[in-house]
Order: sequence, then C-alpha cells, then structure tokens
Amino acid sequence: MTLSLFIAGSHTDIGKTHVACALIRAARAQGLVVEALKPIASGFDPTDWADSDPGRLLAALGEAPSAVALDRITPWRYAAPLAPPSAARLEGRTLPLEPLIDLCAGRLAASAADLFLLESAGGLMSPLADDGICLDLLDALCLPVLLVGGGYLGAMSHTLTAAEVARGRGHPLRAIVVSQDADPTAPDFTETRSLIAAHAGGVPVFPAPRGGDQAWAQSLLAALIDLPVSAPA
Ligand SMILES: Nc1ncnc2c1ncn2[C@@H]1O[C@H](COP(=O)(O)OP(=O)(O)OP(=O)(O)O)[C@@H](O)[C@H]1O
Ligand SMILES: [Mg+2]
Repeated sequence: MTLSLFIAGSHTDIGKTHVACALIRAARAQGLVVEALKPIASGFDPTDWADSDPGRLLAALGEAPSAVALDRITPWRYAAPLAPPSAARLEGRTLPLEPLIDLCAGRLAASAADLFLLESAGGLMSPLADDGICLDLLDALCLPVLLVGGGYLGAMSHTLTAAEVARGRGHPLRAIVVSQDADPTAPDFTETRSLIAAHAGGVPVFPAPRGGDQAWAQSLLAALIDLPVSAPA
C-alpha cells in the first residue's frame, strides 16, 4: 500500500526538498520504491538545474537527470525566482489550478510506489496558481501532511500557525519536521523543537539538524511507515 504525503512548508526555503530527499534516501535504503513529484518550480535555470528542486529529487531517487525525467517530476517550470503565478505571468503564461490538480491526482492514482512524496511550493498559504494557493491543492488531493518548519526566531509561531491552518481545513498532520536554521545565532535548536512539540497537539515532531548525518530521516521514516528501522538516539 502506498503512503502518500503532501510536503508542506511554513515558509519558502525552509527545507522541504532537503527533508524530501533525506526521506527518499532513507526509504530507498530500506528497499522501498519511492516516487516524488514537485509539480511546480520557479527560479529554474534549464541550463543548470542539478541544484534545483527537481535535480535534487531526481538525484535522491537515483534517476538520471534527463529531459524526460525532468518533465515527469516537475512539469511546470519558470525562470523567475518568484511565486509560481508571478513567474508564469512574466513569461506570458497562465497557470490555472485545475490542470495541476488533475496531474497530481492522476499521478497519485497511478502510482505503485511504497512512498509517494508531493512537494508543494513555498509556504502552505503561498500563491501556487493564478486561482489558488498551496492549501487549495491540498484541499483537492486530501493527502496527509508532512509539515516542514524552521528553527529561526519566530519559526515556532509560523510552524504552529501552518499546522493549525492545515488542521482547520481538515487535513491531519502526519508529522512536523523542524529544519535547523543555518544561522548560528538562531535560537537553541533542541529547545525550539521541544517547544513546537509541546504545542503541536500530539503530532510527532522530528528534528532535521544541520550536518552530514541524516540518521534523523531513518527515525522519521520509521514513524511514517511501520518499518523495522532502528531509531538513532
Ligand atoms: N535541515 C537542514 N540541513 C541542512 N541543509 C538544509 C536544511 N534545511 C534546509 N537546508 C538547505 O537550505 C536550502 C533551502 O532548503 P530547501 O531547498 O530544502 O527548501 P524548500 O522549502 O524546499 O524551498 P522551496 O520553497 O524553494 O521549495 C537548501 O540549500 C537546503 O539544502
Ligand atoms: Mg523545495
């Protein structure tokens, strides 16, 4: 049975792709079949996309970065590093929500993967299409949510607010991941994670600390899918 997750963020650049890639690698290491979809990416340079969201996701999936693979993982791509509808407008293109919903729903329905990760764009209430925000896509797809929040000053409120918004629209949160901020002057990471957990209404909260060791992703995966994965301390 497929576990499909909507990877939402409390903010843009918060770590959604980072968490998705770590989860993909952890799942593949367990022999699971994984599929990922990042339907829309802006700030996309077609001549240099190894570090783009689709490039990183394809690398984590172990897929060669071909044009076909790119079209499949991220069908809508825009050059300007703006919210997708603004970036589309600059290119004289429209970006209606309905085809996006249809594509995502079709891919989810057809997937035979053990784990299907759909990464949205920006924050949960960021503009996604000409006529919709990320939350509208979630409303249409009704997937369980993996919310990625941050560790900067103010991130607790942003993360818990996004969690409440998802819940308020009837979307259960499967987990929250607190992605550590790169700024060394950010509040204590362990304390931030504990504070978020204390107010998350019972939703499990996982840390994504900076540093090469991604053992946290194994713990997260084990919590998401009932697997005999040993949890690191
Ligand atoms: N916990 C973390 N540990 C190490 N690096 C991180 C972490 N979180 C984010 N990053 C890095 O910060 C940058 C932004 O993260 P990422 O691209 O995952 O954000 P995003 O939420 O997917 O952004 P977007 O809204 O553009 O999709 C990337 O270079 C990523 O590798
Ligand atoms: Mg991303």
